[in-house]
Amino acid sequence: MKMLVTGCAGFIGSHLSEKLCGMGEDVVGIDCFTDYYPKATKEANLEKLKGCKNFKFVEADLNEIDLELLLKDTDAVFHQAAQAGVRASWGKSFEIYTKNNILVTQKLLEAAKKSNLKKFIYASSSSVYGDAEKLPLKETNVPKPISPYGVSKLAAEHLCYLYWKNFGVPTVSLRYFTVYGPRQRPDMAFNKFIKAVLKGEEIVVYGDGKQTRDFTFISDAIDANIAALELASAGTIFNIGGGSRVFLIDAIKTIEELAGQKAKIKYIEKQKGDVRDTLADTSLAKSLIGYEPKVNLKEGLEEETKWMKKLFKVS
Ligand SMILES: NC(=O)c1ccc[n+]([C@@H]2O[C@H](COP(=O)([O-])OP(=O)(O)OC[C@H]3O[C@@H](n4cnc5c(N)ncnc54)[C@H](O)[C@@H]3O)[C@@H](O)[C@H]2O)c1
Repeated sequence: MKMLVTGCAGFIGSHLSEKLCGMGEDVVGIDCFTDYYPKATKEANLEKLKGCKNFKFVEADLNEIDLELLLKDTDAVFHQAAQAGVRASWGKSFEIYTKNNILVTQKLLEAAKKSNLKKFIYASSSSVYGDAEKLPLKETNVPKPISPYGVSKLAAEHLCYLYWKNFGVPTVSLRYFTVYGPRQRPDMAFNKFIKAVLKGEEIVVYGDGKQTRDFTFISDAIDANIAALELASAGTIFNIGGGSRVFLIDAIKTIEELAGQKAKIKYIEKQKGDVRDTLADTSLAKSLIGYEPKVNLKEGLEEETKWMKKLFKVS
C-alpha cells in the first residue's frame, strides 16, 4: 500500500512513518519544518527514515502544494501535521493554528474527495473536551474546548466527519491523550522536566502539580493508528489514552527515581487553556479496533529518560 504521513518530521509522525516502513509499506512523508520548535530537532527525527528504501520525504507546506497530485495513487493518509501547543495558541498566533490545523485539513479533505483513499486517519486531541464535568471522558461527551488550539483541532475533526458524511471520504479521528516517549516535542512537560532534572535545573509547574493526565506512550499511539487503518469504520472517532490517570507531581517523582536526581520545582500560576484533568474511556477503541495500551507510565518514562540521557550525553 502507499501511505502518506503529514507532519512526518514531528514527534508522532516520525515514529508512525518508521512503523509503516517497517511493515513494508511505501511511505511518502511530508513536512515543512514549521518554526514551532527547531528544525534541527525535526531533522534528527528523520534520521532513521533516511536509511529506509521505501520512504520518500517531501519538504513542502501543505498549504502550498498540489494536494490532488500528492494523493494520487495513495491508499491511506495519516494526517499528523499541525501547529501543536495549547498555551501558544492565544492572540495573533491563532492565525497560524487556523491555517495549519483547520485550513490544511479542509484542503486535504477536498483533495481526498477525488482520490481512492481507503482510510484518512486524523490526529485529533483530548483538548477538544475542555474541562471535564465527569471522568472518564467518553466520545459521546459534548466537546467544549477551553483553548484556541482545542477549537482548531475540533474544527478539523468536524471537517473530517462532514467530508465522510457528505462525500464518503473514509475518515477516522483518533483523540490522542498526551503522548510521550523518545522524541517528544521539546515544549511538552515530560521533555522539559527530564531535561531539567538531568541538568540540575529548575522545573516550572503550572498550578499546584495536582492536575491529572492520562499519558499515552508513543508506541501505543502508533499501534492505534495501525489498528484504525486495518479495522476502523469510516466516520468514527476514538479516544486513544494510556490507561491510567496520574498526578503530575507523581510523574515528577518517577522522573526523579529514573534520573537519580531530585527535582527543583517552582510552582507558578495555572496557564489559560490548560485543562485540570484528563482520563480517556477507551472502551470504544477496545471493542471496535482492539486497541489496548501496553506501556505503563514507569516503563514509558524510562524509555524517554534513556533517550534524553543519550541526547545530553548524561550517564
Ligand atoms: N503530542 C501529543 O501529545 C498530542 C496530543 C494530542 C494531539 N496531537 C496531535 O498529533 C499531531 C502530531 O503531534 P506532535 O506532537 O507530533 O507535533 P509536532 O509539532 O512534533 O509535529 C507536527 C509536524 O507537522 C508539521 N507541519 C505543521 N504544519 C504543516 C504544514 N502546513 N505543512 C507541512 N507540515 C506541517 C510540523 O513542521 C511538525 O513537524 C498533531 O496533529 C497534534 O495536534 C498530539
